[in-house]
Amino acid sequence: MRTQVAIIGSGPAGLLLGQLLYRASIDNVIVDRASKTHILTRIRAGVLEEGTAALLEQAGVDARLKAQNLLHDGFDLVFDNEVHHIDLFGLTGGKRVHVYGQTEMTRDLMDAREAEGLETYYGADDVLPHDFDGDNPRVSFVCDGQSIDIDCDFIAGCDGFHGVSRQSPPAGAMTVMEKTYPFGWLGLMADVPPVSDELIYANHQRGFALCSMRSPTRSRYYIQCPLEDHVEDWSDTRFWDELRRRLPAQIAAKITTAPPLEMSIAPLRSVVSEPMRFGRLFLAGDAAHIVPPTGAKGLNLAASDVHYLFEGLREFYTDRSSAGIDAYSARALHRVWNAERFSWWMTSVMHRFPQMSAFDRRLQQAEFYQLVHSKAASTALAENYVGLPF
Ligand code: FAD
Ligand code: DHB
Repeated sequence: MRTQVAIIGSGPAGLLLGQLLYRASIDNVIVDRASKTHILTRIRAGVLEEGTAALLEQAGVDARLKAQNLLHDGFDLVFDNEVHHIDLFGLTGGKRVHVYGQTEMTRDLMDAREAEGLETYYGADDVLPHDFDGDNPRVSFVCDGQSIDIDCDFIAGCDGFHGVSRQSPPAGAMTVMEKTYPFGWLGLMADVPPVSDELIYANHQRGFALCSMRSPTRSRYYIQCPLEDHVEDWSDTRFWDELRRRLPAQIAAKITTAPPLEMSIAPLRSVVSEPMRFGRLFLAGDAAHIVPPTGAKGLNLAASDVHYLFEGLREFYTDRSSAGIDAYSARALHRVWNAERFSWWMTSVMHRFPQMSAFDRRLQQAEFYQLVHSKAASTALAENYVGLPF
C-alpha cells in the first residue's frame, strides 16, 4: 500500500491531522493499536482553546461542537476557601474557552473520517516506523492476522506518550527532558448537574480539587491523590466526601452526587522531546510532550502541533517548498515551552506537595495574593489559560 502521509495514532492529534490533510487533497492512512471503542471510552480533556475550535472548523468537524459546547468566560480559583474569580473574557479582550469533551471531539473526527471512507486501521499489532532517515519511509503492522506495509513520503508520530514513534529515532537523536510530580489526579465522571456554571480550581490544605463538567447534566471532578493510590482504594462515597471537604462550605453544600460513570487516576508529569522531527518522522501531541493537566493544555498543544505540521506538509505538496516542514520543530517547540511553563506554574501554585516547608506555603499564598490584587498577574494567567496565539 502507498500513501503520502502515514499517521501512527488515532487520538485527537492523528485524526485532526488526517482530516486537514484530506481536505487539502493529501492522501493519508491512520493506524492505531487500540480499538475504536477503547479510544472512545478514554475520558480525558474537557477544555478547548478558541484556536483548537477554529482548527476543528477548518477541518469541517465543528457542527456538534458549535451546537453543544459550553462557552466559559471565566473560572474560580479557591485558596483556603477564599474564592477569586478570573474573568477570562474581560482580561483577554473577549476571549473564552469551550468546554467540550475530548471524547466527543474524537468521535466527531472519527465520524467524519468514516463518512469519507478514509483508510484507517484499528486494533493493529506491532506497529513500527522504518527508514525515516531516508526518502522512502514505511510503516509496518499486523491487522487481523495480516502483515501490512505502508510506503509513504512522511510519517506522523501521533501515538501519544506510550507510543512507538518517540522510541524509534536512534539513541541520542532526541533529548528528553522530564519533571515528575509527587501526586496524581483521581477523576470521577457522573450524571449530575455541575456544582457551578464555571470551573473551580481549589488549593486546600487536604490537596487540590477541580470541579469541571461536560454538559448541564454531566459533571467531571478531580482530586489530588498520592501517587501510590489505586482506584480500588477509592469508593465513590469516599471520593464525594473528600471533594466536599476541599471546597468552601457554600460550594460543597451544592454538590449533587450519583454513582460514577468512570473513575481513574492519572499521574502528573512534564516531558518534552527535542527536536520533534527526525528525518521524515514528525512527532506531534503527547508523543512529543506531556504537560500536567492543571492548565488544560495537553489537547490544545496537540492541536497547535497539528496546525504547524499540516501547514508544513501543505506547503511541501502545493508549493514544493520544504521551508514549513523544516521549521516545524522549532515553531511547535516555541509554543510547547510556553505551555510547559504555564502548566508547571499552575500545578506548583495549586497543589499541596508532600514535603512543603512553611516557606513554600507562604510563596503559594503570595502567588494567590498577586492574582487577587494585581490585574497584570491575573491577565498573565488569563492569556495563558485561553491559549497563546498560533
Ligand atoms: P493520545 O490521545 O494519547 O492518542 C494517541 C493514540 O495513539 C491512541 O489512540 C493510542 O491508542 C495510539 N497508540 C499508542 N501507541 C501506539 C502504537 N504503538 N501504535 C499505534 N498506535 C498507538 N488536555 C487539554 O488540552 N485540556 C484538558 O482539559 C485536559 N485534561 C486532561 C485530563 C486528564 C485526566 C488527562 C489524562 C489528560 C488531559 N489532557 C487535557 C491531555 C490530553 O488528553 C492529551 O494531551 C491528548 O489526548 C493528546 O492527544 P494525542 O492525540 O497526542 O495523544
Ligand atoms: C478538565 C481537565 C483539566 O485538566 C482541566 O484543567 C480542566 C478541566 C476536564 O476534564 O474537564
